[in-house]
Amino acid sequence: MDHSEGPAVRRRDVLGGLAAGTALAAALDAQAADRRKRYVSVGVGSRNRMFQQALWGPHKAHGELIAACDVNPGRLDYLAREATKAGARPPKPYLAADFDKMLRELKPDAVIVTTPDAFHDDYVVRALDAGCDVITEKPMTTTAAKAQRILDAVKRSGRHIRVTFNYRYSPFRSQVKELLMAGEIGDVLSVDFQWLLNTVHGADYFRRWHSNKAISGGLMVHKATHHFDLVNWWLSDMPVSVNATGKREFYTPEMARRFGLDGAHQRCRTCPEKAECSFFFDLAADPALKALYLDNEKYDGYFRDQCVWRPEINIEDTMNVIVGYAGGTTLSYSLNAFNAWEGYHIAFNGTKGRLEHSVVEQAGVAGAGGHSVDDRIKTRIVPMRGDPRDIVPQTGAAGGHGGGDAVMLADIFDPNAPKDALLRAADERSGAASILVGVAANKCFETGQPVKIADLVTGLDWPVYAKMPSHKAPVAQPPRMAKA
Ligand SMILES: NC(=O)c1ccc[n+]([C@@H]2O[C@H](COP(=O)([O-])OP(=O)(O)OC[C@H]3O[C@@H](n4cnc5c(N)ncnc54)[C@H](O)[C@@H]3O)[C@@H](O)[C@H]2O)c1
Repeated sequence: MDHSEGPAVRRRDVLGGLAAGTALAAALDAQAADRRKRYVSVGVGSRNRMFQQALWGPHKAHGELIAACDVNPGRLDYLAREATKAGARPPKPYLAADFDKMLRELKPDAVIVTTPDAFHDDYVVRALDAGCDVITEKPMTTTAAKAQRILDAVKRSGRHIRVTFNYRYSPFRSQVKELLMAGEIGDVLSVDFQWLLNTVHGADYFRRWHSNKAISGGLMVHKATHHFDLVNWWLSDMPVSVNATGKREFYTPEMARRFGLDGAHQRCRTCPEKAECSFFFDLAADPALKALYLDNEKYDGYFRDQCVWRPEINIEDTMNVIVGYAGGTTLSYSLNAFNAWEGYHIAFNGTKGRLEHSVVEQAGVAGAGGHSVDDRIKTRIVPMRGDPRDIVPQTGAAGGHGGGDAVMLADIFDPNAPKDALLRAADERSGAASILVGVAANKCFETGQPVKIADLVTGLDWPVYAKMPSHKAPVAQPPRMAKA
Protein backbone atom coordinates (compact mmCIF):
# COMPACT_ATOMS: atom_id res chain seq x y z
CA MET A 1 0.00 0.00 0.00
CA ASP A 2 1.05 3.59 -0.57
CA HIS A 3 2.22 5.23 2.63
CA SER A 4 2.31 8.71 1.13
CA GLU A 5 -0.97 9.94 2.72
CA GLY A 6 0.63 9.27 6.14
CA PRO A 7 0.50 11.21 9.35
CA ALA A 8 -2.41 11.85 11.67
CA VAL A 9 -2.20 15.63 11.52
CA ARG A 10 -1.89 16.88 7.98
CA ARG A 11 0.26 19.87 7.24
CA ARG A 12 -2.47 21.67 5.26
CA ASP A 13 -5.02 21.13 8.07
CA VAL A 14 -2.56 22.40 10.61
CA LEU A 15 -1.70 25.50 8.56
CA GLY A 16 -5.38 26.26 8.04
CA GLY A 17 -6.39 25.77 11.67
CA LEU A 18 -3.58 27.22 13.81
CA ALA A 19 -2.35 30.76 13.99
CA ALA A 20 0.15 30.83 16.81
CA GLY A 21 3.71 29.89 15.92
CA THR A 22 4.35 27.78 19.00
CA ALA A 23 1.15 25.81 18.57
CA LEU A 24 2.09 25.27 14.95
CA ALA A 25 5.52 24.01 15.90
CA ALA A 26 4.03 21.66 18.50
CA ALA A 27 1.52 20.31 16.02
CA LEU A 28 4.20 19.74 13.41
CA ASP A 29 6.32 17.93 16.02
CA ALA A 30 3.36 15.70 16.84
CA GLN A 31 2.87 15.09 13.14
CA ALA A 32 6.49 14.11 12.68
CA ALA A 33 6.27 11.78 15.67
CA ASP A 34 3.05 10.10 14.52
CA ARG A 35 3.89 8.17 11.40
CA ARG A 36 1.04 5.77 11.94
CA LYS A 37 -1.33 4.99 9.10
CA ARG A 38 -4.85 6.31 9.47
CA TYR A 39 -7.70 3.81 9.14
CA VAL A 40 -11.47 4.16 9.12
CA SER A 41 -13.93 1.27 9.41
CA VAL A 42 -17.34 0.78 7.89
CA GLY A 43 -19.61 -1.82 9.54
CA VAL A 44 -18.59 -2.14 13.19
CA GLY A 45 -20.19 -5.44 14.17
CA SER A 46 -18.57 -8.64 15.31
CA ARG A 47 -15.77 -9.01 12.76
CA ASN A 48 -14.60 -5.44 12.99
CA ARG A 49 -13.54 -6.15 16.57
CA MET A 50 -10.56 -8.14 15.26
CA PHE A 51 -9.28 -5.00 13.50
CA GLN A 52 -10.09 -2.75 16.49
CA GLN A 53 -8.19 -5.01 18.87
CA ALA A 54 -5.22 -5.18 16.49
CA LEU A 55 -5.04 -1.38 16.22
CA TRP A 56 -5.56 -0.86 19.97
CA GLY A 57 -3.12 -3.65 20.86
CA PRO A 58 -0.22 -5.25 18.97
CA HIS A 59 -0.38 -2.80 16.04
CA LYS A 60 -1.04 0.50 17.82
CA ALA A 61 2.40 1.71 16.82
CA HIS A 62 1.57 1.04 13.15
CA GLY A 63 -1.87 2.55 12.73
CA GLU A 64 -4.85 4.26 14.32
CA LEU A 65 -8.57 3.69 13.84
CA ILE A 66 -9.55 7.34 13.50
CA ALA A 67 -13.22 6.96 12.55
CA ALA A 68 -16.00 4.45 12.17
CA CYS A 69 -19.19 4.36 10.14
CA ASP A 70 -22.31 2.22 10.54
CA VAL A 71 -26.06 2.29 9.96
CA ASN A 72 -26.56 1.59 13.66
CA PRO A 73 -25.74 4.50 16.03
CA GLY A 74 -25.94 2.16 19.03
CA ARG A 75 -23.05 0.06 17.75
CA LEU A 76 -21.03 3.24 17.11
CA ASP A 77 -21.58 4.24 20.77
CA TYR A 78 -20.58 0.76 21.90
CA LEU A 79 -17.38 1.01 19.85
CA ALA A 80 -16.53 4.34 21.51
CA ARG A 81 -16.97 2.75 24.96
CA GLU A 82 -14.80 -0.21 23.97
CA ALA A 83 -12.07 2.11 22.66
CA THR A 84 -12.02 4.06 25.93
CA LYS A 85 -11.81 0.80 27.89
CA ALA A 86 -8.84 -0.23 25.73
CA GLY A 87 -7.13 3.11 26.42
CA ALA A 88 -7.51 4.26 22.80
CA ARG A 89 -8.98 7.48 21.41
CA PRO A 90 -12.63 6.75 20.44
CA PRO A 91 -12.99 6.70 16.63
CA LYS A 92 -15.01 9.62 15.26
CA PRO A 93 -18.54 8.28 14.60
CA TYR A 94 -20.29 8.68 11.22
CA LEU A 95 -23.65 7.30 10.14
CA ALA A 96 -23.63 5.31 6.89
CA ALA A 97 -25.23 8.20 4.96
CA ASP A 98 -22.12 10.27 5.79
CA PHE A 99 -19.53 7.76 4.49
CA ASP A 100 -18.34 10.06 1.67
CA LYS A 101 -18.27 13.03 4.07
CA MET A 102 -16.05 10.97 6.39
CA LEU A 103 -13.61 10.28 3.55
CA ARG A 104 -13.65 13.94 2.47
CA GLU A 105 -13.10 15.26 5.99
CA LEU A 106 -10.49 12.79 7.19
CA LYS A 107 -8.71 11.59 4.05
CA PRO A 108 -7.75 8.26 5.61
CA ASP A 109 -5.03 6.04 4.18
CA ALA A 110 -7.27 2.99 4.07
CA VAL A 111 -10.88 1.94 4.64
CA ILE A 112 -11.61 -1.33 6.48
CA VAL A 113 -14.86 -2.79 5.11
CA THR A 114 -16.71 -5.16 7.47
CA THR A 115 -20.37 -4.65 6.56
CA PRO A 116 -22.61 -7.55 5.51
CA ASP A 117 -21.32 -9.01 2.25
CA ALA A 118 -23.66 -7.49 -0.36
CA PHE A 119 -22.73 -3.94 0.75
CA HIS A 120 -18.96 -4.39 0.39
CA ASP A 121 -18.78 -3.38 -3.27
CA ASP A 122 -20.46 -0.02 -2.77
CA TYR A 123 -18.06 1.03 0.01
CA VAL A 124 -15.02 -0.51 -1.72
CA VAL A 125 -15.67 1.39 -4.96
CA ARG A 126 -16.43 4.70 -3.18
CA ALA A 127 -13.25 4.35 -1.10
CA LEU A 128 -11.07 3.55 -4.12
CA ASP A 129 -12.53 6.44 -6.10
CA ALA A 130 -11.80 8.75 -3.14
CA GLY A 131 -8.14 7.75 -3.36
CA CYS A 132 -8.04 5.33 -0.41
CA ASP A 133 -6.70 1.81 -0.23
CA VAL A 134 -9.13 -0.82 1.00
CA ILE A 135 -8.97 -3.76 3.37
CA THR A 136 -12.14 -5.78 2.87
CA GLU A 137 -13.44 -8.83 4.61
CA LYS A 138 -14.29 -11.90 2.60
CA PRO A 139 -16.30 -12.51 0.50
CA MET A 140 -15.04 -9.56 -1.55
CA THR A 141 -18.60 -9.28 -2.88
CA THR A 142 -21.62 -11.42 -3.77
CA THR A 143 -22.36 -11.20 -7.52
CA ALA A 144 -20.45 -11.11 -10.81
CA ALA A 145 -21.72 -7.58 -11.59
CA LYS A 146 -20.45 -6.29 -8.23
CA ALA A 147 -17.10 -8.04 -8.76
CA GLN A 148 -16.84 -6.33 -12.15
CA ARG A 149 -17.45 -2.91 -10.52
CA ILE A 150 -14.61 -3.57 -8.09
CA LEU A 151 -12.18 -4.85 -10.76
CA ASP A 152 -12.93 -1.77 -12.88
CA ALA A 153 -12.54 0.62 -9.91
CA VAL A 154 -9.12 -0.80 -8.99
CA LYS A 155 -7.90 -0.26 -12.56
CA ARG A 156 -9.46 3.23 -12.73
CA SER A 157 -8.16 4.43 -9.34
CA GLY A 158 -4.75 2.78 -9.18
CA ARG A 159 -5.41 2.08 -5.47
CA HIS A 160 -5.04 -1.28 -3.75
CA ILE A 161 -7.36 -3.82 -2.20
CA ARG A 162 -6.50 -6.38 0.39
CA VAL A 163 -9.02 -9.24 0.84
CA THR A 164 -8.56 -10.77 4.28
CA PHE A 165 -8.33 -14.48 3.50
CA ASN A 166 -7.17 -15.42 6.99
CA TYR A 167 -7.51 -19.17 6.29
CA ARG A 168 -4.36 -19.00 4.12
CA TYR A 169 -2.40 -17.90 7.19
CA SER A 170 -3.28 -20.78 9.56
CA PRO A 171 0.13 -22.40 10.03
CA PHE A 172 -1.08 -25.91 9.20
CA ARG A 173 -2.65 -24.70 5.94
CA SER A 174 0.50 -22.79 5.05
CA GLN A 175 2.35 -26.06 5.67
CA VAL A 176 0.13 -27.85 3.12
CA LYS A 177 1.11 -25.17 0.59
CA GLU A 178 4.79 -25.76 1.38
CA LEU A 179 4.42 -29.52 0.88
CA LEU A 180 2.69 -28.99 -2.47
CA MET A 181 5.30 -26.42 -3.55
CA ALA A 182 8.08 -28.85 -2.63
CA GLY A 183 6.60 -31.36 -5.10
CA GLU A 184 6.04 -34.01 -2.39
CA ILE A 185 3.17 -35.55 -4.38
CA GLY A 186 4.17 -34.31 -7.85
CA ASP A 187 1.62 -32.53 -9.99
CA VAL A 188 -1.87 -32.38 -8.50
CA LEU A 189 -4.38 -33.90 -10.93
CA SER A 190 -7.48 -33.81 -8.72
CA VAL A 191 -8.68 -32.65 -5.30
CA ASP A 192 -11.43 -34.08 -3.05
CA PHE A 193 -12.65 -31.58 -0.47
CA GLN A 194 -15.49 -31.95 2.07
CA TRP A 195 -16.36 -29.13 4.46
CA LEU A 196 -18.80 -29.73 7.31
CA LEU A 197 -20.58 -27.09 9.40
CA ASN A 198 -22.14 -28.19 12.66
CA THR A 199 -25.43 -27.31 14.34
CA VAL A 200 -23.74 -24.85 16.74
CA HIS A 201 -21.65 -22.46 14.62
CA GLY A 202 -23.05 -23.76 11.31
CA ALA A 203 -26.68 -23.26 12.36
CA ASP A 204 -25.86 -19.62 13.13
CA TYR A 205 -25.76 -18.84 9.39
CA PHE A 206 -29.49 -19.61 9.35
CA ARG A 207 -30.21 -17.22 12.27
CA ARG A 208 -28.47 -14.11 10.93
CA TRP A 209 -28.49 -11.90 7.79
CA HIS A 210 -26.52 -14.70 6.13
CA SER A 211 -29.81 -16.61 5.68
CA ASN A 212 -30.85 -14.05 3.02
CA LYS A 213 -29.07 -14.86 -0.24
CA ALA A 214 -29.42 -11.30 -1.53
CA ILE A 215 -27.18 -10.16 1.36
CA SER A 216 -24.73 -13.08 1.74
CA GLY A 217 -24.70 -14.76 -1.68
CA GLY A 218 -25.60 -17.98 0.20
CA LEU A 219 -23.02 -20.30 1.72
CA MET A 220 -21.45 -20.90 -1.72
CA VAL A 221 -20.28 -17.28 -1.65
CA HIS A 222 -20.25 -16.29 2.02
CA LYS A 223 -18.57 -19.39 3.42
CA ALA A 224 -17.11 -21.31 0.49
CA THR A 225 -15.19 -18.23 -0.73
CA HIS A 226 -12.64 -19.25 1.96
CA HIS A 227 -12.52 -22.82 0.65
CA PHE A 228 -12.38 -21.98 -3.06
CA ASP A 229 -9.69 -19.42 -2.30
CA LEU A 230 -7.67 -22.02 -0.41
CA VAL A 231 -7.78 -24.43 -3.35
CA ASN A 232 -6.98 -21.67 -5.88
CA TRP A 233 -4.01 -20.62 -3.74
CA TRP A 234 -2.88 -24.14 -2.79
CA LEU A 235 -2.79 -25.04 -6.50
CA SER A 236 -1.60 -21.59 -7.71
CA ASP A 237 -4.27 -21.96 -10.37
CA MET A 238 -7.41 -20.32 -11.69
CA PRO A 239 -10.88 -21.91 -11.83
CA VAL A 240 -12.40 -22.00 -15.33
CA SER A 241 -15.60 -24.08 -15.15
CA VAL A 242 -18.18 -24.98 -12.50
CA ASN A 243 -20.98 -27.51 -12.23
CA ALA A 244 -23.04 -27.80 -9.05
CA THR A 245 -26.20 -28.85 -7.28
CA GLY A 246 -27.61 -27.39 -4.09
CA LYS A 247 -30.69 -27.71 -1.91
CA ARG A 248 -32.12 -26.69 1.49
CA GLU A 249 -33.59 -29.71 3.15
CA PHE A 250 -32.67 -29.44 6.83
CA TYR A 251 -33.34 -25.86 8.00
CA THR A 252 -37.02 -25.92 7.01
CA PRO A 253 -40.42 -25.73 8.77
CA GLU A 254 -41.00 -29.38 7.76
CA MET A 255 -37.84 -30.47 9.62
CA ALA A 256 -38.98 -28.54 12.72
CA ARG A 257 -42.18 -30.57 12.66
CA ARG A 258 -40.18 -33.80 12.28
CA PHE A 259 -38.42 -32.78 15.51
CA GLY A 260 -41.83 -32.52 17.20
CA LEU A 261 -42.03 -28.71 17.12
CA ASP A 262 -45.04 -26.73 15.94
CA GLY A 263 -42.93 -25.09 13.25
CA ALA A 264 -41.15 -21.85 12.63
CA HIS A 265 -41.37 -18.76 14.84
CA GLN A 266 -39.83 -15.34 14.36
CA ARG A 267 -36.95 -15.51 16.83
CA CYS A 268 -35.60 -17.47 19.79
CA ARG A 269 -36.05 -14.70 22.36
CA THR A 270 -39.85 -14.68 22.08
CA CYS A 271 -40.30 -18.29 20.96
CA PRO A 272 -43.05 -20.27 22.73
CA GLU A 273 -41.06 -23.48 22.07
CA LYS A 274 -37.69 -22.38 23.46
CA ALA A 275 -37.69 -25.18 26.04
CA GLU A 276 -38.35 -27.87 23.43
CA CYS A 277 -36.06 -26.74 20.59
CA SER A 278 -32.45 -27.91 20.78
CA PHE A 279 -31.51 -25.08 18.39
CA PHE A 280 -32.64 -22.43 20.91
CA PHE A 281 -30.06 -19.63 21.07
CA ASP A 282 -29.97 -17.26 24.04
CA LEU A 283 -28.76 -13.91 22.74
CA ALA A 284 -28.86 -12.35 26.22
CA ALA A 285 -26.59 -15.01 27.73
CA ASP A 286 -23.37 -13.71 26.17
CA PRO A 287 -22.58 -10.16 27.40
CA ALA A 288 -20.67 -9.24 24.23
CA LEU A 289 -23.45 -10.44 21.90
CA LYS A 290 -26.03 -8.68 24.07
CA ALA A 291 -24.09 -5.40 23.97
CA LEU A 292 -23.48 -5.63 20.23
CA TYR A 293 -26.89 -6.78 18.98
CA LEU A 294 -29.70 -7.12 21.54
CA ASP A 295 -29.14 -3.68 23.07
CA ASN A 296 -29.09 -2.07 19.61
CA GLU A 297 -32.14 -3.73 18.03
CA LYS A 298 -34.16 -0.57 18.71
CA TYR A 299 -32.12 1.29 16.08
CA ASP A 300 -32.34 -1.10 13.11
CA GLY A 301 -34.78 -3.90 14.00
CA TYR A 302 -32.15 -6.56 13.26
CA PHE A 303 -32.61 -9.81 15.21
CA ARG A 304 -29.41 -11.86 15.64
CA ASP A 305 -31.43 -14.88 16.89
CA GLN A 306 -33.96 -15.54 14.12
CA CYS A 307 -35.57 -18.97 13.96
CA VAL A 308 -33.51 -21.49 11.95
CA TRP A 309 -36.73 -23.11 10.69
CA ARG A 310 -38.16 -19.94 9.05
CA PRO A 311 -39.77 -20.56 5.65
CA GLU A 312 -38.25 -17.38 4.17
CA ILE A 313 -34.67 -18.64 4.50
CA ASN A 314 -33.40 -18.91 0.92
CA ILE A 315 -29.85 -20.27 1.23
CA GLU A 316 -28.87 -23.91 0.70
CA ASP A 317 -27.67 -26.29 3.42
CA THR A 318 -26.38 -29.08 1.13
CA MET A 319 -24.10 -28.29 -1.83
CA ASN A 320 -21.93 -30.30 -4.24
CA VAL A 321 -19.61 -28.65 -6.74
CA ILE A 322 -17.19 -29.76 -9.49
CA VAL A 323 -14.61 -27.14 -10.53
CA GLY A 324 -12.25 -27.36 -13.53
CA TYR A 325 -8.93 -25.49 -13.33
CA ALA A 326 -6.90 -23.83 -16.08
CA GLY A 327 -3.99 -26.18 -15.33
CA GLY A 328 -6.20 -29.26 -15.76
CA THR A 329 -6.81 -30.12 -12.09
CA THR A 330 -10.38 -30.98 -11.09
CA LEU A 331 -11.89 -30.22 -7.68
CA SER A 332 -14.76 -32.15 -6.17
CA TYR A 333 -16.17 -30.13 -3.23
CA SER A 334 -19.09 -30.50 -0.85
CA LEU A 335 -20.48 -28.25 1.89
CA ASN A 336 -22.98 -29.52 4.41
CA ALA A 337 -24.40 -27.27 7.14
CA PHE A 338 -26.04 -29.64 9.67
CA ASN A 339 -23.34 -31.97 10.88
CA ALA A 340 -22.28 -33.26 14.29
CA TRP A 341 -18.83 -31.68 13.97
CA GLU A 342 -17.29 -28.80 12.07
CA GLY A 343 -14.16 -28.94 9.96
CA TYR A 344 -12.92 -30.57 6.79
CA HIS A 345 -11.16 -33.36 4.96
CA ILE A 346 -9.15 -32.62 1.83
CA ALA A 347 -7.06 -34.91 -0.36
CA PHE A 348 -4.79 -33.90 -3.23
CA ASN A 349 -4.21 -36.71 -5.72
CA GLY A 350 -0.81 -36.20 -7.37
CA THR A 351 1.41 -37.93 -9.89
CA LYS A 352 3.71 -39.15 -7.09
CA GLY A 353 1.16 -39.75 -4.32
CA ARG A 354 -1.61 -38.26 -2.23
CA LEU A 355 -1.62 -35.55 0.42
CA GLU A 356 -4.40 -35.99 3.00
CA HIS A 357 -5.23 -33.21 5.43
CA SER A 358 -8.09 -32.92 7.91
CA VAL A 359 -9.05 -30.53 10.68
CA VAL A 360 -11.74 -30.66 13.37
CA GLU A 361 -12.56 -26.99 13.97
CA GLN A 362 -15.42 -27.57 16.41
CA ALA A 363 -16.52 -30.86 17.93
CA GLY A 364 -20.20 -31.76 18.21
CA VAL A 365 -22.36 -30.56 21.09
CA ALA A 366 -21.85 -33.72 23.14
CA GLY A 367 -18.13 -34.00 22.43
CA ALA A 368 -17.19 -30.33 22.76
CA GLY A 369 -13.69 -29.97 24.19
CA GLY A 370 -11.40 -32.92 24.68
CA HIS A 371 -9.66 -32.50 21.34
CA SER A 372 -5.97 -31.69 21.56
CA VAL A 373 -4.31 -29.93 18.62
CA ASP A 374 -2.71 -33.26 17.71
CA ASP A 375 -6.13 -34.93 17.51
CA ARG A 376 -7.66 -32.09 15.59
CA ILE A 377 -5.18 -31.56 12.78
CA LYS A 378 -3.84 -34.37 10.64
CA THR A 379 -1.63 -34.16 7.56
CA ARG A 380 -0.30 -37.24 5.81
CA ILE A 381 1.69 -37.96 2.67
CA VAL A 382 0.77 -41.25 1.03
CA PRO A 383 3.38 -41.92 -1.68
CA MET A 384 2.28 -43.87 -4.74
CA ARG A 385 4.84 -46.49 -3.75
CA GLY A 386 6.18 -46.76 -0.20
CA ASP A 387 4.94 -46.13 3.30
CA PRO A 388 2.62 -43.29 4.32
CA ARG A 389 4.20 -40.58 6.44
CA ASP A 390 2.41 -38.49 9.09
CA ILE A 391 3.47 -34.86 9.08
CA VAL A 392 3.64 -33.06 12.44
CA PRO A 393 1.23 -30.16 11.93
CA GLN A 394 2.63 -26.67 12.23
CA THR A 395 0.64 -24.75 14.80
CA GLY A 396 1.01 -21.10 15.64
CA ALA A 397 -0.13 -18.41 17.97
CA ALA A 398 -3.44 -18.85 19.72
CA GLY A 399 -6.39 -16.88 18.44
CA GLY A 400 -8.93 -16.88 15.66
CA HIS A 401 -8.85 -19.27 12.74
CA GLY A 402 -6.07 -21.58 13.92
CA GLY A 403 -3.71 -18.71 14.71
CA GLY A 404 -4.16 -17.39 11.16
CA ASP A 405 -5.76 -14.07 12.19
CA ALA A 406 -2.71 -12.88 14.17
CA VAL A 407 -0.26 -13.73 11.36
CA MET A 408 -2.48 -12.05 8.79
CA LEU A 409 -2.92 -8.89 10.90
CA ALA A 410 0.86 -8.55 11.21
CA ASP A 411 1.12 -8.94 7.43
CA ILE A 412 -1.48 -6.18 6.96
CA PHE A 413 -0.46 -3.64 9.59
CA ASP A 414 3.24 -4.14 10.35
CA PRO A 415 5.43 -2.37 7.75
CA ASN A 416 8.34 -4.58 8.88
CA ALA A 417 6.51 -7.91 8.51
CA PRO A 418 8.82 -10.51 6.93
CA LYS A 419 8.61 -11.14 3.18
CA ASP A 420 6.18 -13.98 2.53
CA ALA A 421 7.44 -16.80 0.27
CA LEU A 422 3.91 -18.26 0.17
CA LEU A 423 2.44 -14.98 -1.16
CA ARG A 424 -0.54 -15.18 1.19
CA ALA A 425 -1.62 -11.54 0.81
CA ALA A 426 -4.69 -11.56 -1.45
CA ASP A 427 -5.98 -8.75 -3.65
CA GLU A 428 -9.09 -8.19 -5.79
CA ARG A 429 -7.99 -10.85 -8.30
CA SER A 430 -8.05 -13.61 -5.67
CA GLY A 431 -11.16 -12.06 -4.13
CA ALA A 432 -12.95 -12.31 -7.49
CA ALA A 433 -11.58 -15.74 -8.47
CA SER A 434 -12.95 -17.33 -5.32
CA ILE A 435 -16.38 -15.68 -5.20
CA LEU A 436 -16.96 -16.36 -8.89
CA VAL A 437 -16.85 -20.12 -8.23
CA GLY A 438 -19.65 -19.61 -5.69
CA VAL A 439 -21.56 -17.25 -8.00
CA ALA A 440 -21.27 -19.85 -10.78
CA ALA A 441 -22.45 -22.60 -8.41
CA ASN A 442 -25.49 -20.48 -7.46
CA LYS A 443 -26.23 -20.09 -11.19
CA CYS A 444 -25.97 -23.88 -11.66
CA PHE A 445 -28.47 -24.39 -8.81
CA GLU A 446 -30.97 -22.29 -10.78
CA THR A 447 -30.34 -23.50 -14.33
CA GLY A 448 -28.87 -26.99 -13.93
CA GLN A 449 -26.27 -25.94 -16.54
CA PRO A 450 -22.47 -25.73 -16.17
CA VAL A 451 -20.96 -22.22 -16.05
CA LYS A 452 -17.70 -20.87 -17.46
CA ILE A 453 -15.95 -18.32 -15.20
CA ALA A 454 -14.84 -16.34 -18.28
CA ASP A 455 -18.52 -15.68 -19.08
CA LEU A 456 -19.07 -13.93 -15.73
CA VAL A 457 -16.58 -11.01 -15.79
CA THR A 458 -14.06 -9.40 -18.12
CA GLY A 459 -10.51 -8.31 -17.32
CA LEU A 460 -9.87 -10.73 -14.45
CA ASP A 461 -6.09 -11.19 -14.36
CA TRP A 462 -4.28 -14.04 -12.63
CA PRO A 463 -3.20 -13.27 -9.07
CA VAL A 464 0.55 -13.43 -8.40
CA TYR A 465 1.02 -16.96 -7.10
CA ALA A 466 3.98 -18.87 -5.69
CA LYS A 467 5.68 -21.20 -8.18
CA MET A 468 4.48 -24.82 -8.14
CA PRO A 469 5.88 -28.00 -9.74
CA SER A 470 4.84 -27.68 -13.41
CA HIS A 471 1.60 -29.32 -14.49
CA LYS A 472 3.20 -30.02 -17.82
CA ALA A 473 6.40 -31.75 -16.59
CA PRO A 474 6.82 -35.29 -17.94
CA VAL A 475 5.66 -37.79 -15.32
CA ALA A 476 8.18 -40.52 -14.51
CA GLN A 477 6.86 -44.09 -14.39
CA PRO A 478 6.57 -44.95 -10.67
CA PRO A 479 8.89 -47.78 -9.57
CA ARG A 480 7.34 -51.27 -9.51
CA MET A 481 5.95 -52.45 -6.21
CA ALA A 482 8.23 -54.97 -4.53
CA LYS A 483 6.68 -58.45 -4.44
CA ALA A 484 5.16 -59.23 -1.03
N1 LIG B 1 -12.64 -13.79 7.65
C1 LIG B 1 -13.46 -14.34 8.52
O1 LIG B 1 -13.16 -15.40 9.02
C2 LIG B 1 -14.75 -13.63 8.88
C3 LIG B 1 -15.41 -13.96 10.07
C4 LIG B 1 -16.59 -13.30 10.37
C5 LIG B 1 -17.12 -12.36 9.50
N2 LIG B 1 -16.46 -12.07 8.34
C6 LIG B 1 -17.00 -11.07 7.40
O2 LIG B 1 -17.06 -9.80 8.05
C7 LIG B 1 -18.18 -9.06 7.56
C8 LIG B 1 -19.03 -8.61 8.73
O3 LIG B 1 -19.58 -9.74 9.39
P1 LIG B 1 -20.03 -9.66 10.92
O4 LIG B 1 -20.11 -11.04 11.40
O5 LIG B 1 -19.20 -8.68 11.63
O6 LIG B 1 -21.51 -9.07 10.77
P2 LIG B 1 -22.30 -8.21 11.86
O7 LIG B 1 -23.73 -8.33 11.53
O8 LIG B 1 -21.84 -8.55 13.23
O9 LIG B 1 -21.79 -6.71 11.60
C9 LIG B 1 -22.11 -5.98 10.45
C10 LIG B 1 -22.11 -4.49 10.79
O10 LIG B 1 -22.38 -3.76 9.60
C11 LIG B 1 -23.40 -2.79 9.88
N3 LIG B 1 -24.13 -2.51 8.64
C12 LIG B 1 -25.16 -3.21 8.10
N4 LIG B 1 -25.51 -2.66 6.93
C13 LIG B 1 -24.69 -1.60 6.72
C14 LIG B 1 -24.58 -0.65 5.68
N5 LIG B 1 -25.36 -0.68 4.60
N6 LIG B 1 -23.64 0.31 5.81
C15 LIG B 1 -22.82 0.36 6.91
N7 LIG B 1 -22.90 -0.53 7.92
C16 LIG B 1 -23.81 -1.51 7.81
C17 LIG B 1 -24.25 -3.42 10.96
O11 LIG B 1 -24.98 -2.46 11.69
C18 LIG B 1 -23.19 -4.11 11.80
O12 LIG B 1 -22.66 -3.22 12.77
C19 LIG B 1 -18.91 -9.97 6.58
O13 LIG B 1 -18.53 -9.66 5.28
C20 LIG B 1 -18.42 -11.36 6.95
O14 LIG B 1 -18.42 -12.24 5.85
C21 LIG B 1 -15.28 -12.69 8.04
